[in-house]
Amino acid sequence: MAGFFEQLCKVVAESEHNSSGIAASSEEVKQFFSAVPRETKPAPAPAVPVPVKPVSQVVVPPQSSGNFATLEEIYAAVASCSRCPLGATRTNTVPGEGDPDARLMFIGEGPGFDEDRLGRPFVGKAGALLDKMISAMQFTRKEVYITNIVKCRPPDNRVPAPEEAQCCIGYLKRQIEIIRPEVIVLLGATAVKYLLNVSDGISKMRGRWLSYENIPVMATFHPAFLLRQESAKRETWNDLQQVMARFGKYHNPGVKRG
Ligand code: URA
Repeated sequence: MAGFFEQLCKVVAESEHNSSGIAASSEEVKQFFSAVPRETKPAPAPAVPVPVKPVSQVVVPPQSSGNFATLEEIYAAVASCSRCPLGATRTNTVPGEGDPDARLMFIGEGPGFDEDRLGRPFVGKAGALLDKMISAMQFTRKEVYITNIVKCRPPDNRVPAPEEAQCCIGYLKRQIEIIRPEVIVLLGATAVKYLLNVSDGISKMRGRWLSYENIPVMATFHPAFLLRQESAKRETWNDLQQVMARFGKYHNPGVKRG
């Protein structure tokens, strides 16, 4: 029985796509799906290509986000921040990294063990999967910007408390104002909750266009969740393809890359 990935390739190869867009090799997509177990029964036809859905009504009013002029000023303020109790237990702050002119920004929840140790976002197992997601989208990690809702590790990798997120959110809002990405991808429910002020679960919020300060936002599953729930990679890939389409990038294994 053909597995999901083979079906995906077949459907995409047969589907029409915008030939003026950038066509992607299937190799990076294979990497993203690499650990998906073989189907034992016929897989449902994946929704490829993904129709562009209208931007939803989730619009967040402007809020004060500090008067930092540059990302470096934010990094310096974060490095000495003690606004919340996480400052007392961190090893390193993890302000974010990537292209200051990035067109695409990823926002996760908060640093984990590896990130706290190295002072860099998404460098552990979830980070390795995020790297595969970025490659499958035909971006490089250096081209995008990656950060989190909170910049210090919550002990035992717990979800940040509302007060911790509120203390930290101004840094993120100013990062977004400075970078002004064309699209934001929110990874998981915590990112949705504190950037968009929406408490609905990620299953409800993912897969449709949202908006933050007139920037299109796509929410999808957190890579750490995908490590536990590999079947959710299919929905995630559909979400990511909607983002790719905004940049004129399409997954089509039948087309050679130049
Ligand atoms: N999970 C996150 O949400 N952020 C990281 O930086 C690493 C893991």
